[in-house]
Amino acid sequence: MTVHIDAKPGQIAETVLMPGDPLRAQWAAETFLENPECVNRVRGMFGFTGTWKGNRVTIHGSGMGMPSLSIYANELIRDYGAKTLIRIGSCGAMQERVAIRDVIIAMTASSLSTPSRGIFRDLNYAPCADYGLLRSAADAALARGITPHMGGIYSSDVFYDERPDLNEEMMRHGILGVEMEAAELYTLGARYGVRALAVLTVSDHLVTHEALPSEDRERSFGDMVEIALEAAFP
Ligand code: ADE
Repeated sequence: MTVHIDAKPGQIAETVLMPGDPLRAQWAAETFLENPECVNRVRGMFGFTGTWKGNRVTIHGSGMGMPSLSIYANELIRDYGAKTLIRIGSCGAMQERVAIRDVIIAMTASSLSTPSRGIFRDLNYAPCADYGLLRSAADAALARGITPHMGGIYSSDVFYDERPDLNEEMMRHGILGVEMEAAELYTLGARYGVRALAVLTVSDHLVTHEALPSEDRERSFGDMVEIALEAAFP
């Protein structure tokens, strides 16, 4: 047991899917896993473990933002032996060609800062996805008839952004979308030698200002869960 996870040893699988929202973790586990069992409830940050096509999988909330994700990912990796961590979440599109509901598979995650900033100091470390997972996720998406956008994303510390100039620079440099967690997940993956990936669907658009109605989010979320499962167990 850790400070934030009260699962017993062995109750967390080596493969962990991480949505931001713990209720999404519950929905995904109950919808896609066989025999899901709730293994964490501390602070309402639910984690469930079950099987998918015979493979053990945990689906655990990360909370919003890199400090929250960092707590759960650190404990899942260091204390419970997680070896493959896939973030499944939403993002805001930063390019006109990226549409609402599209899927982005993040090759890299730029940031102004992450919880690892104190380690890197003046080094501009480039957090990147695990290539094998990235490739399997792209194949899984294509097999489902979904053409994913592959490229860099921006992991922001704020949802309510006061730096339109920075967003413009991100867009000018080809960043596909903005979310709030992947850069730290990729950094932790590298630090501990485990596989990390973020699969995202576009819920809002920074260029056109469209937003996905909340009732439509479930379907896109389901596609992401299946892409992530297929990427982990190709
Ligand atoms: N997640 C989904 N949309 C977002 C946005 N516009 N900014 C940051 N995180 C997001």
